[in-house]
This record gives sequence, C-alpha cells and structure tokens, in this order.
Amino acid sequence: MDQDTDQTETAIEATYRTESPASLEQFERDCESMPGGAKGAYYYGPYPLTMQRGEGCYLFDIDERRRVDFANHHTGQILGHNNAAVNEAVQAQLERGIALGAPTGNEAGLAEELCSRVVSLERVRFCNSGTEATLHAIRLARGFSRRPKIAKFEGGYHGSHDPVEVSVAPPVEEAGPADAPHSVATAGGMSPSATDEVIVLPYNNEEAVERIVRSHRDELACVILDPKTGILPVRKEFVQAVRRITEENEVLLILDEVVGFRVTRGGCQEHFGISPDLSAFGKVVGGGFPVGALGGRADIMALFDNSGDPTGFFQSGTFSAHAVVMAAGLATLRQLTPESFAHMDGLSERLRAGLDELSASVDTPFQGVVLGSLFSVYFTEEPLVDYRSLASSDGAMAHRVFLSLLNQGYYLSQGLSMNALSLPMTDEHIDGLLLAFERALEEARA
Ligand SMILES: Cc1ncc(COP(=O)(O)O)c(C=O)c1O
Repeated sequence: MDQDTDQTETAIEATYRTESPASLEQFERDCESMPGGAKGAYYYGPYPLTMQRGEGCYLFDIDERRRVDFANHHTGQILGHNNAAVNEAVQAQLERGIALGAPTGNEAGLAEELCSRVVSLERVRFCNSGTEATLHAIRLARGFSRRPKIAKFEGGYHGSHDPVEVSVAPPVEEAGPADAPHSVATAGGMSPSATDEVIVLPYNNEEAVERIVRSHRDELACVILDPKTGILPVRKEFVQAVRRITEENEVLLILDEVVGFRVTRGGCQEHFGISPDLSAFGKVVGGGFPVGALGGRADIMALFDNSGDPTGFFQSGTFSAHAVVMAAGLATLRQLTPESFAHMDGLSERLRAGLDELSASVDTPFQGVVLGSLFSVYFTEEPLVDYRSLASSDGAMAHRVFLSLLNQGYYLSQGLSMNALSLPMTDEHIDGLLLAFERALEEARA
C-alpha cells in the first residue's frame, strides 16, 4: 500500500473509530470467548459494528447511530426489520408452543405457498440452512442418478459442505485455463478427495460448459448453478443453455435459489425462464429465522418418502421445519405480492440509473450490477463475465468505500458484493445512498 492510500484509509478509519467506541469495546470482549469475535462473515476491519436493534429499513448500533440497512442480513430481511405481520405470526406460534416435536401444520402452509409460487416445485422438504439444502439436493441427485460426481461453476457459493466448497474463490494463478478451470479446495480441512469429485465450469461460456458436461456425462450426477452469483451479470440465454445442455446429457440440474425471491415472485427460475430438476432455498423463506428448503420433481423427491418400503434416503434434523420458522416464513412470503416486487423494481431501476450515471462521470472505474432487489459494486474496468473478472475488482478500494458509507449512515455488505433493498425503502433512501456513494468515492481515492 502506498503512503497516500495508507493515509486515506487512516482518515476514513479514524472517523469510523470515533463514531463507534462501544462497538470496539464489545468486539474486544467477544474476542475473549469467540475466535475472531463472532461468526466469520461478520468480521471486517478494523472491527465490526455491534447492532442493537432494527426498525423498518434502519439498523441502530450500540453507539445509537442509525444507518440505512442495505445488507439486510445477508439479503434475507426483504421486509426490513420488526415487520408487524411476521412478529404477530411468531407471537401466535410462541403462545401455542415453540418446539412440539411433531408436525404442526405450519410446514404444510409454507410448502403449499412455495409450490404455488415456483412452477418446478412438486414437493418440498425443509431444513435449517441453505448449506443443508444444497447438501441434501446433491445427495438426492447422486442417489437418483447413481453417478458420483457433481459440476459447479467457478466462483459459485452454495454453502459450507465439502463438494460445494470447491473453486469458490480460487487464486486465479492456481485455477487453470478460464475455459477449463481446475478444481481448487476453498477451505482448510476439506476431504482431500473433494476436488476429485467436482468438475468446475465457467460462467457465461456455453461452448465450454457443453464440452465439459458432455465429456463427463457418465459420471455426473448433477450440475449446480446459482444464476446470479455474487452478483455477476449472467446472461439469460446462458442459463437457458445450461438447462438445455444438462437435459441433452441426462444430467440433473439443481438451481441454487438460496437468494431467490429477490428477483421475481416465482424465484430466479421464473426470471431466467427455466425449470430445474431440483432447487435449493433459504434466507427469505424463513422470515429472518434459520431455514433451508429443497424441492423439485416428485419422482426425485420421492426418495425421501419412507412411509412405504425404505428408500435408503433420510433427511431430518432436530430443528428442521421448526414451527416458529415456518410461521415467520409464511408471513413473509405472503407479503411478497406483485405490488411489493413492483415497488422494489422501481427502486432498483432508480439505483441502476444512478450508478450508471455516476460511473460515467467519475474518474474511479467501477461497475454497478443490479438484479431484482440485489446489487453489487465492482472496482474494475474488465467486462464482468465470469469469476475471474469479478476477482479483478480492487478489494482495498471496496473496503474504503464500505467504511466511508458506514461513516455516512449506510450499512452495506462488506466487499459491496451482495447488497439488498428492502420493502420499506423509498426513493429517498436510494438517492441518499447514491449521494453518499459519490462522496465515498472521493474520500476513498483522496
Ligand atoms: C447462493 C447461496 N447458496 C447457499 C448459501 C448458503 O446458505 P446458508 O448460509 O444459509 O447456509 C448462500 C449463503 O449466503 C448463498 O448465497
């Protein structure tokens, strides 16, 4: 880091420190009993803010500073915070009992809602996280097809079990050719065989995907695809080509919809115009509580049905389909009406136009990507086509802008790569963010 950048960082960071003494104190205490202070994704330098409460589209930290929340708990809080209907549904279930060790009917309500929204869902099962949802979807695919390997896209994140922790963010110099990527382990402690079981595909390259899938078709159980990873602008025709290629090669397609319901009422698959064999859900579906769901073709999901002869497949979990979570999820989805999506589409159009205008008028090269109620900002001039172009983004610049936005009252995702709108937001919040972003650019490069 050169001296100028160092001083810029220090100025932004000095303001941050002045505004958040209680968060620093809390962080130091957290570190005494938890490695790194809290869960991994919460950490950012110099120390994360500790939040006290949320209301509508605002978060309040323990120094009582208010910020507009554009992170929305890893995109999950689509209704914002303290939503009255969700609170009421949760309270009603609390009064009936928290965990009753039996079906309560709540899961049927949420399952029916999901199946009625998402055309490809004939049957659904609930679990506790997006990680569990992709884990069980992959197991089902392996069991149904009786083939051992899976294919995933370079840069795609599908949770934290071994098969999907391959080539999530590989160092580009270790990742092989862009059109024939190597399998690279992402996390320490993974099984050494994990990389042998995963074939890696490049985004937005139909020719390469067709070639690689065809050559591995006899050993491939499934392709798992997040059609908006990161968020990278993934072409609709590309997503449709992946569906065609998997069908032609008789390989199952799992669509990762864990960040679904942020694009259309019927999930990402409605937007991209495809029908996957299986889908994995999470986040919004639990109304702010831990959740995962997987579903799809009835003939594949039937492997979970042990009411007749045992199928050899089992999916359960102490807290899966938890009554309170199911109630909160249903109360959330019911508010995601066509009008709600129209409101958020209006906000995201305003944001897209503002980011494009700003990008054309400032010296700092950046690109804003907006999809549904999600948006990302990348500091690179490279056309954004695949993981490698996202990896060329200037992470240090993103961090300075992120801290400057915090100082100005805007809470985004660290790295600025997966931000989200919420229903209580208005045009004023978008305009305010755009102004703050322009100022953050000036501060960050000063
Ligand atoms: C696309 C995608 N898939 C899967 C996951 C994993 O979900 P969870 O964190 O609930 O395990 C995430 C989490 O951010 C995600 O964004």
